[in-house]
Amino acid sequence: MFSRGSAADRPRGFVYNSRIIIRLIAFVLPHIKLVSFNAISLVAMLSFMFIMPWFMAQAVDSINGNETNIPVINAWATPGTIYYLFLTALCLLAAGILRGVAAFAQTFLNQSISQRVAYDVRNHIYEAYQKQSFAFYDKMPTAELMSRATADVEAARMLTSIGLPRPFQTAIFFTAILVFLWLTSPPLALIAFVGIPFIGYRAIKTSVSLRPIWLTIQEGQAAMTVVLQENLAGAKIVHSFGRQEAENVKFQHRSTYVYDRSILGTSIRSTNNAVMTGTVWFLMGAILVYGGREIINDNMTPGQLTQAFIYLVMLTEQVRMLGFLGDLVSRSVAAGERIFEVLDAEPTISDQVDAKPMGAIKGRVRFENVNFSYDSVTSTLTSINLEADPNQVVALLGSTGSGKTTLVSLIPRFYDVSSGRLLIDEVDIRSVEVDSLRQNIGTVQQDVFLFSATIRENVAYGKYGASDEEIERVMRAARLHDFIMTLPNGYDTEVGERGITLSGGQKQRLAIARTLLLDPRILVLDDSLSNVDTETEYLIQQALTDLMKDRTTFIIAHRLANLKRADKIVVLDEGVIVQEGTHDVLLEKEGLYRQIYELQLRQQEEALESSKNILQI
Ligand SMILES: Nc1ncnc2c1ncn2[C@@H]1O[C@H](COP(=O)(O)OP(=O)(O)OP(=O)(O)O)[C@@H](O)[C@H]1O
Ligand SMILES: [Mg+2]
Repeated sequence: MFSRGSAADRPRGFVYNSRIIIRLIAFVLPHIKLVSFNAISLVAMLSFMFIMPWFMAQAVDSINGNETNIPVINAWATPGTIYYLFLTALCLLAAGILRGVAAFAQTFLNQSISQRVAYDVRNHIYEAYQKQSFAFYDKMPTAELMSRATADVEAARMLTSIGLPRPFQTAIFFTAILVFLWLTSPPLALIAFVGIPFIGYRAIKTSVSLRPIWLTIQEGQAAMTVVLQENLAGAKIVHSFGRQEAENVKFQHRSTYVYDRSILGTSIRSTNNAVMTGTVWFLMGAILVYGGREIINDNMTPGQLTQAFIYLVMLTEQVRMLGFLGDLVSRSVAAGERIFEVLDAEPTISDQVDAKPMGAIKGRVRFENVNFSYDSVTSTLTSINLEADPNQVVALLGSTGSGKTTLVSLIPRFYDVSSGRLLIDEVDIRSVEVDSLRQNIGTVQQDVFLFSATIRENVAYGKYGASDEEIERVMRAARLHDFIMTLPNGYDTEVGERGITLSGGQKQRLAIARTLLLDPRILVLDDSLSNVDTETEYLIQQALTDLMKDRTTFIIAHRLANLKRADKIVVLDEGVIVQEGTHDVLLEKEGLYRQIYELQLRQQEEALESSKNILQI
């Protein structure tokens, strides 16, 4: 199951880290053809890079009139002349251009591979999010999930674009330079490479100490995004409660943490860079002294020493990269950990192996001794026994937190019962395919969510390609069509962030229309009428009477009209059904229903009567 532990709780170690790296590398395998082209261009680029200092050495040695090792030039010009130098420079230029071409191919291929990997990883994460159950989203803040699909994917991408090819490049460089120096002068090679174990040790040590820091920075950034996202989403609440200052402090707290950790990471990295570069310059000095002595003793040419220096400068770059590489791998591993955590999370609701499609149903719903708990500790629903015959209307009533929403969310398997059974047409809903079950059930939830899209697209969300006539029919039924017609762009009006803002009641009616378009056998309406005024409610009630006719309906009702029309009213109290019956029967009895009626419902009856008179209906 999914867990959100802090960085410090997680297991670490070489085997664990390697497993993450291997799993990330596995994303490169489908692009193996590109990888091989990339390897070829890398080797070509390195060969040209390596040959350029050699040309330089030839040029330097030719200044004193020495013949060079380039026979073609020897045949064309005399060493020690400007013309000879010019031809050597031309060779250098040609090698430089070829190196540029190879470098272009290498960078391009490298980026293509890493972008494809990022594309694949992102899609995997997106798919993983889609198949997750409600419980997963209860636990994870939206911003946390977003940062895993964006920032972490980017960090993991760096592993494939730099983390993978760089070690090869560095290894080839070290070996080639070692061989050259050895062939030129073995003591020179020994001096140059006496620092390598030290450099390697520094690189690994730094990488190890940076890894937990990167992990905490990434977590800190995610926590910061959560505060930011909630602050933006809840901006109106923040302002209306005058909590801006407190929110600022909360954000600054998170932000300071990320800053402090980043500065710590940077100081470790900078120290490491300074030590590594210092080592390389120390080696250069040693080579200058020893190489100069060899030139004086005629054991070496000035060109060869020049070549050795240029190689060492190149090596400095590689060495710098080593430090950066350890750093980058640490970050990628930390990101990989967070990515695989969501990819590996098993959805709690999924199809059983032998699950069958649900097919057409009559719509009989039965709760058989159902118990439910969100956290396996506190019981939210206890011993629920409830039956709804096809086409019946069951109204649920109860104080806030009594478990009404929870009860109806078990029907489409948003959560699974903890014990007992939930049957539709006498079939346990866990034995059918989840998608086919949900196709039969239309839900209008308590919090209506609309996408940033046109009204048409929002209504047709569950039925792609619905015709204009169908959309208009359900919108008329939801009493929203006339309002839409007053908008300049009608059904093409954008809603959400990019467009108009609908009122709470309009949103609810749009959600009703969206669900009605699915024509479900079972309808679940959660408080969907709580936000409309009495006049609109009356109109919707009329439409709903028609629309509920051929469906089994569960309606969470605070409105008298819905309670009166119900074939059965179920009164919930702290997750237990305390009363069941029709409005008239329940009103006769002592109990919670009559109390609620006296306290809340009677006023509605009076208001409804007066609005009927005003509307003269
Ligand atoms: N996703 C969740 N995770 C954990 N606990 C939850 C979750 N949703 C609801 N609860 C808890 O379960 C209990 C029942 O909540 P539920 O939303 O079903 O009440 P309700 O009757 O619909 O209330 P209201 O009338 O306010 O909508 C509450 O104590 C609530 O805190
Ligand atoms: Mg509720």
